Amino acid sequence: MTESITITDNRSGEQIEIPIVNGGVDASEWGKLLPGVWFYDPSFDHTAAAASAITELDGEKGILRYRGYPIEQLAEQSTYLEVAYLLIFGELPAPNQFEAWVHDVTYHTFLHENVRKKFMDGFHHDAHPMGVLVSTIAALSTFYNDAKNIDDPADRYKQIVRLIAKMPTMAAGAHRHSVGMPFVYPDNNLDFASNFLSMMWKVAEPQYEPNPVLSRALDVLFILHADHEQNCSTTAMRVVASSLADPYVSTAAAAAALYGPRHGGANEAVVRMLGEIGSMDDVGDYIKRVKAGEVRLQGFGHRVYRNYDPRATIIKQTADEVFEVTGKNPLLDIALKLEEVALADNYFTSRKLYPNVDFYSGLIYQAMDFPIDMFPVLFAIPRTSGWLAHWVELLDQNARIARPRQLYDGVPQRDYQAIDKR
Ligand code: SDX
Repeated sequence: MTESITITDNRSGEQIEIPIVNGGVDASEWGKLLPGVWFYDPSFDHTAAAASAITELDGEKGILRYRGYPIEQLAEQSTYLEVAYLLIFGELPAPNQFEAWVHDVTYHTFLHENVRKKFMDGFHHDAHPMGVLVSTIAALSTFYNDAKNIDDPADRYKQIVRLIAKMPTMAAGAHRHSVGMPFVYPDNNLDFASNFLSMMWKVAEPQYEPNPVLSRALDVLFILHADHEQNCSTTAMRVVASSLADPYVSTAAAAAALYGPRHGGANEAVVRMLGEIGSMDDVGDYIKRVKAGEVRLQGFGHRVYRNYDPRATIIKQTADEVFEVTGKNPLLDIALKLEEVALADNYFTSRKLYPNVDFYSGLIYQAMDFPIDMFPVLFAIPRTSGWLAHWVELLDQNARIARPRQLYDGVPQRDYQAIDKR
């Protein structure tokens, strides 16, 4: 048996054999046999839009690996900044490389004062922080003209460091603006997660004292959210970057995609759903509404995972550590009951609907006092390293501009009618 497929054009009887390589077939080959005939796949369910060495998923087995390392080992033994380095440069850093990387990120956390004072402060007081973040990421493009030198390794590195470093500063700044609190400057004595917590919560104390359990839990959540192969927001990053747009506007496009409730907005939707259910006694009624197609079970289901999302398992363990410090989130019992009822119901198991990364993450963020509308922002901070890893990979592959075809199903040609004739 050869690892190949044969396509026959029944109109002409012509055939073409295409080898199956690395789990895929080269679409340009059948273009030779079928010019002008397109494979219709609008949500890319059956289409590989890229060849990538960054993240490997196995949806059936519930496997997630970053550059070959299992997510469970990285969550247990690594840190977010080390994982960001791994995703972008392909290898775990040597001690000197890691020291330089952490130094560079730490010393690029500040924002140009105009970004905060003239741009971020211009938003309405109740602006959604994700809308502020998406806009501010794009605005950074106007502050760094060297960002357009995307083929210069030194300039490319500078933008990568700036974006990873400034995401927490912009994120915390958006929150502080929304609650009328003064902006908190980065504290270079703190690690990445602790510095973010300081910029979020510092009040009048001379230096913010992070709770080490909460800092570590947040760092683990950042690791789990760092990349996830060709998800919606990463696809947006690759499409926009394929036009050779600079990394700031490409990242803004990716963050915009993440904002949607089907994607990064899901953990916000989960907590709102749990609040709407209100009590464990009402779980059954909500499940009935889901099965009637009236509502979706937020935090359940995944395009790739047809099994438990491995990140959800780790997040559930992290939740216990956080609740030890913060006290249990009252919505947790409702979530656990929902999961128990859903996983015993054929409606969900037959559709391979299991808890995904978002089902429990929102409960942790809420227990850590993050406002609900900050949840997608907390997803965007670490996913920036994944987006940038794909940006670098796409440029190194000399990828062509993304320009899919379509099936036209509009009206045939017709002549213009003057307005007095309509
Ligand atoms: C993330 O791609 C990634 O990697 C994303 C992500 C990442 O790290 O980047 O993993 C992060 O975005 C996780 C997903 C977060 N979203 C949610 O939790 C929102 C709720 N889930 C969904 O809306 C849905 O499951 C999606 C969007 C996640 C996946 O949708 P698909 O693959 O397009 O599935 P579908 O909409 O075609 O549904 C298939 C069937 C349908 O039923 P039938 O028409 O066959 O009767 O499953 C049903 C759907 O109605 N279904 C659900 C459901 N999700 C799918 N029914 C109830 N509740 C749900 N959550």
